[in-house]
Amino acid sequence: KKFKIAVIPGDGVGKEVVAEGIKVLDHLAQESNGKFEFEYDHYPWGCEYYLEHGKMISDDGVEKMRDYDAIYFGAVGFPGVPDHVSLWGLRLAICQGLDQWANIRPVEFLPGVPRRITHPDADNLNWILIRENSEGEYSGIGGRNFDGRGEGKEVAVQTSLFTEKGCERIIRFAFETARTRKRKKVTSVTKSNAQQYGMVLWDEVFERVSREYPDVETDQWLVDAMAAQFVMHPEELEVVVASNLFADILSDLGSALSGSLGIASSANLNPEGRTPSMFESVHGSAPDIAGKGIANPIGTIDSASLMLDHLGLEEEAKALHEAIRATTGKGILTRDIGGNYDTEDVTGAIIENLSVV
Ligand code: NAI
Ligand code: MG
Repeated sequence: KKFKIAVIPGDGVGKEVVAEGIKVLDHLAQESNGKFEFEYDHYPWGCEYYLEHGKMISDDGVEKMRDYDAIYFGAVGFPGVPDHVSLWGLRLAICQGLDQWANIRPVEFLPGVPRRITHPDADNLNWILIRENSEGEYSGIGGRNFDGRGEGKEVAVQTSLFTEKGCERIIRFAFETARTRKRKKVTSVTKSNAQQYGMVLWDEVFERVSREYPDVETDQWLVDAMAAQFVMHPEELEVVVASNLFADILSDLGSALSGSLGIASSANLNPEGRTPSMFESVHGSAPDIAGKGIANPIGTIDSASLMLDHLGLEEEAKALHEAIRATTGKGILTRDIGGNYDTEDVTGAIIENLSVV
C-alpha cells in the first residue's frame, strides 16, 4: 500500500528533525518488502515563506491537505515574525481547518534519560494527555482597541468558547482511550471555580458522559492542583483530559518531568477519519539551538510512530517506539538530555536498533 504524506517541516529545528523522521520512515518502508511505501510532498510553509509571500500558508493550502493520508509536521515560529502570526497562520489554521479536534500527548519515562522526578517506579509510569484541540481558550474570538472604561487606554478581549458538542466529543474520546489501557481511569482538568460558564459546562458534560462508562474510574481536578499532582503523584495519572490551553501547559510540564521537551510526541487527530491527522513533536522551533545539528529528534521520530499506528501499521509503530527506547537505554542521547550525541547520531542508532528488534 502506498501512503501519501504531506510534509511540513516549518521553521528552525522543525526542518532538522523532520528530515530525521523521514529517514526512519524510509528505512521502515524499505524493510517492509513492498508491504507499504510512502510518497511525500514537501511544503515550504513557515516564517521564511511568510516573509516572502505575506502569509504562512498558500491560500489553498489547508484544502490541499485533504488529499493526504497524514501530515508530518515540524514546528513553526521564528524571530522576525510575531509568534501569534506564525502559530495561527500555520499550525492552528491546519488543526482547526481540518477539524483535528483531539490532540494526543503521551508522557513516558524513557530508559537512560535523566528525569526530573524522584518517583521510585518512574520506569513504569506513563500517561496520556488528551487536549481539546478545536475551541476553548484558542477559539480566536475577541479583539483589540476597545476603550472599555472610557479611560483612553486599550482593552483587549479574548474569549474562550466551550460548546457542549466540543466538550462531549473530547471527553468521550478520553473515556474510549481509557478503555484501551490497563488501568481504566480518566482525570478531567478544569478551573471551574473561577471560570464559571464554559468550564462548569465541561464539568457537567464530564459527569453525564462518565455515567455511560461505569467501568472507568474518574476524578476531577482544578488545573493548578493538577500541576502539583503531575510532580507529586504522577502514579495517579492514566488518561488526563483538559481544555486547549490547560493541556498545552500540562504537556510541557509532563515532557520536562520525563527529561526534555525534545522527546515528547503528539498527534492531532480527526477521530472520525473525515480529514487527515497531523503528527508533530510537542516542542517548538527552538531558535536557540537551530542550525547546529544538535536538536533531539526523538519527539518527532516518536510522532512518526504515532502516525504509523494511525495508518494501521501497528507492528511497525511498536517496533519504532521500542527502537527509540533501546537507543536511549544505551545512552545515545542528545545534549538536552545529558548526552553529547548529535541529531544524526541518534537517528542512526534508532535505525540500527530497528533491525535488531
Ligand atoms: P521551544 O519548544 O522551541 O523551546 C523551548 C526550549 O526547549 C528551548 O530551550 C529549546 O532549545 C528546547 N528544545 C525544544 N525542542 C528541542 C529539541 N528537539 N531538542 C533539544 N532541545 C529542544 O519553545 P519556545 O522557545 O517557547 O518557542 C520557540 C518558537 O517555537 C516560538 O516561535 C513559538 O511560538 C514556537 N512554538 C511552536 C510550536 C509548534 O509549532 N507546535 C509549539 C511551541 C512553540
Ligand atoms: Mg505547547
